[in-house]
Amino acid sequence: MRQTRLISKMKKVVFLTGAGISAESGFSTFRGNNGLWDNYPVEQVATPQGWKENPTLVTDFYNNLRKNLIKAKPNEGHLKVAELEEHFDVTVVTQNVDNLHERAGSSKIIHLHGELMKVCSSDDPDNPEYIETLDDEHLIVKHGELAKDGSLLRPWIVWFGEAVPRMEEAIEAVSDADIFVIVGTSLNVYPAAGLINFVPQSAKIYLIDPFNVETPRGYAVEVIQEVASKGMRILEQILLKKS
Ligand code: OAD
Repeated sequence: MRQTRLISKMKKVVFLTGAGISAESGFSTFRGNNGLWDNYPVEQVATPQGWKENPTLVTDFYNNLRKNLIKAKPNEGHLKVAELEEHFDVTVVTQNVDNLHERAGSSKIIHLHGELMKVCSSDDPDNPEYIETLDDEHLIVKHGELAKDGSLLRPWIVWFGEAVPRMEEAIEAVSDADIFVIVGTSLNVYPAAGLINFVPQSAKIYLIDPFNVETPRGYAVEVIQEVASKGMRILEQILLKKS
């Protein structure tokens, strides 16, 4: 006898996360009170020009971030995002270069601005042949260390003025979302901040941030004005009640 199987189509939840979701894991955000860019000029450590002018300073900056990253742990915000996979088809589009979403257990992650634990060729940054993943044993890039193509090994970070290679993938995910959730981003940096423009009209939009974040006019956004951990607890209750 032919059996018919009941297939439940899980709703698609797409998160857009930023530095704020990692704040409770001990990372500074970029902007605002004592933000990272107040202490390290962005032109020096996050632009191709800065790299050209002083690769030693840039290498040291990312080495330090990496040392902090391996000591840090995902917080409840990251964990709750991952747990929602039990009930929803979840994609995380993140501007963060840390690997805390991965370590919390999320399975579909699009890193828009690169990954701190990866390094690449200075001449051909997105060529997968020259991208290397660092680990605890090789965490620190030495001054003058070379990539496999003989160019200087550089952080696999999308710097200001550079193209965002995974943007198309992110747009595709957002365009298909039933629920779009923005967590811990000031929405200051494009093209990531423009992703909201691709959310289908029928989708519900939530925003979790302890401070006021300006969203483009014309979108109904339900704001949960809390830090990521508490905000995610509230969101989980709302979503599970509705599903
Ligand atoms: P920002 O530093 O611009 O914004 C961080 C946001 O997190 C702000 O809206 C804060 O109010 C919020 N926030 C602070 N503490 C929080 C908490 N505990 N829980 C939730 N939210 C909290 O960081 P991003 O928007 O991520 O790019 O910045 C975007 C990009 O600009 C980064 O990816 C980086 C930076 O320059 C590159 O390095 C290429």
